Amino acid sequence: MGATRLRLLEGAPTTYEPLLSWVEEVAELTQPDRIHWVDGSEAEYRKLTDELVAAGTLTRLNPDLFPNSFAAFSDPADVARVEEQTFICSRNERDAGFTNNWMEPAEMKTKLKGLFSGSMRGRTMYVIPFVMGHLDAEDPKFGVEISDSAYVVASMRIMARIGTDVLKKIEQTNAFFVPALHSVGAPLEPGQADVPWPCNPEKWIVHFPEERSIWSYGSGYGGNALLGKKCYALRIASVMARDEGWLAEHMLILKLTSPEKKVYNVAAAFPSACGKTNLALLDPTIEGWKVETLGDDITWMRFGKEGELRAVNPEAGLFGVAPGTGWGTNPNAMRAIAKGNSIFTNVALTDDGGVWWEGMTEEVPAHLTDWRGNDWTPEADRPAAHPNSRFCTPIDQIDMLAPEYFAPNGVEVHAILFGGRRKTTIPLVTQSRDWANGIFMGATLSSETTAAAAGAVGVVRRDPMAMLPFIGYDAGDYLNHWVRLSGKGNPARLPKIFLVNWFRRTREGGFAWPGFGDNSRVLKWAIERIEGAADAVETPIGFVPTAESLDLDGLDMTPEQVEEAVRFDADEWRDEVPGLEEWFARFGGSLPLSLTNELEGLKKRLG
Ligand code: GDP
Ligand code: PGA
Ligand code: MN
Repeated sequence: MGATRLRLLEGAPTTYEPLLSWVEEVAELTQPDRIHWVDGSEAEYRKLTDELVAAGTLTRLNPDLFPNSFAAFSDPADVARVEEQTFICSRNERDAGFTNNWMEPAEMKTKLKGLFSGSMRGRTMYVIPFVMGHLDAEDPKFGVEISDSAYVVASMRIMARIGTDVLKKIEQTNAFFVPALHSVGAPLEPGQADVPWPCNPEKWIVHFPEERSIWSYGSGYGGNALLGKKCYALRIASVMARDEGWLAEHMLILKLTSPEKKVYNVAAAFPSACGKTNLALLDPTIEGWKVETLGDDITWMRFGKEGELRAVNPEAGLFGVAPGTGWGTNPNAMRAIAKGNSIFTNVALTDDGGVWWEGMTEEVPAHLTDWRGNDWTPEADRPAAHPNSRFCTPIDQIDMLAPEYFAPNGVEVHAILFGGRRKTTIPLVTQSRDWANGIFMGATLSSETTAAAAGAVGVVRRDPMAMLPFIGYDAGDYLNHWVRLSGKGNPARLPKIFLVNWFRRTREGGFAWPGFGDNSRVLKWAIERIEGAADAVETPIGFVPTAESLDLDGLDMTPEQVEEAVRFDADEWRDEVPGLEEWFARFGGSLPLSLTNELEGLKKRLG
């Protein structure tokens, strides 16, 4: 084999046969001009970003404002995840379930091979060894992304642990790695000039769960192209987790310390653009409570030796929604961003070489260059930054990062929040009656769609455990996995489950609850419920706070306004039931019985 090896592989920094032969196979298919093995070094990052600046993909920001930071502007048709073009190609259609697109794997492979054939012509093929989670975890989860985008390489260096150390460990331990293939689908003919954001109108984000492989074509956008994130750490990992007895979830994790110095770790599942990053970096508005960040998007959980649920964050960076992130709402994120070393995508540029987006500062700059490169003034009737514009920032730049982030075995989870974006019906916070009722809250979670995915915004849809676009297998099997796995935990140490909604509206249309830092009041109530210290009203859906049981010290709200945020409305809930029945009917036979029972119980209690 060695003698006939492709010339492009000369000088490869590895002799690991499974990797060499995959890289060779991909190079033969995609026909790049050259192969670059990514070492993850700072020198390499500098060189790549210099090249991206020269190519017009990146704009270097004013280093006095944002050191070592860049802005990228995508093709206007490549700004979000494409759920319609995302596929789970399991061998059997049944195993993809009704929440996923499916195509027969061999047929899909044929289609993809056609698309990838020659797709890297005129470009460099980057080989990016990466690990999700800790390199020294008991069972590290490796991947190798092949991509023809240097923007992807630079972003992956922020979002995951990548490079030489990872490659060495893969070789030394003869490890399995997820082959994750990415092409922007824009080959260059000899002499053809490149565009700043190459991509293809046709996009395919495809997962082969049994093979544990990923093929992504046509997009350069985060969730479609940084394959360690949603594609691996959620879709493929959820399948690994099902087979190996753990959980891969769309959750933030935060560490909460009470005035008595007791520590509680809280995991929370919210759909994309529904507040994970903001809650993870929360700046409490109440005295004596401290929040530290563990993770802002993805949480892997498994039961520990004592039957406690333990969580780790497999990522190394933040890929946060920019609009709405500001000095007023999220100073911790702003401080992390201001340290630099970040890549911004589709934000607006200020005249002094900085970035701006809606909600960053109270004062709106008099002049900006918007994300499309046009002049922008406050009179414009369009936003300056794209609603799904993002900042990509190393997680260790967060001052409030909990030291336990670096612990390979993670932390014990004491509470789980499920939350969505609902104008009505869902109170600010509801404590589940028990674990089964909590799973029901997760299974029936609903939210209005956001700009994080292509398509209409503001449509209410069911989003089980905030995993609707990310479950790599049948949704009913996924809920069964939750039920069965938690049966193996120590019942006394199972986290307590709460349903939250920061987005309820008043009759006048404004937010019923100020949110952001004031969500610490909800966290405090949840912890006090766990400790048996806070009052609540029992309702058909669970326990909601009495107005007096919430710490409202320093909050500028009347008791009536608080009541509007926390109130349980029986009429709204009776209107909700047909939607719940329809949702459960879609699972066919694969829904856990305990959930059907929960719905029956709820209907009875609602009368
Ligand atoms: P993620 O995608 O789940 O991480 O969501 P983010 O934390 O990035 O928030 C998405 C959007 O929701 C941003 O525009 C935030 O400003 C907004 N947001 C986050 N938390 C709150 C909150 O508590 N109340 C309100 N009204 N908006 C919020
Ligand atoms: P998020 O998703 O909004 O949950 O951070 C990131 C993405 O859509 O790629
Ligand atoms: Mn986020």
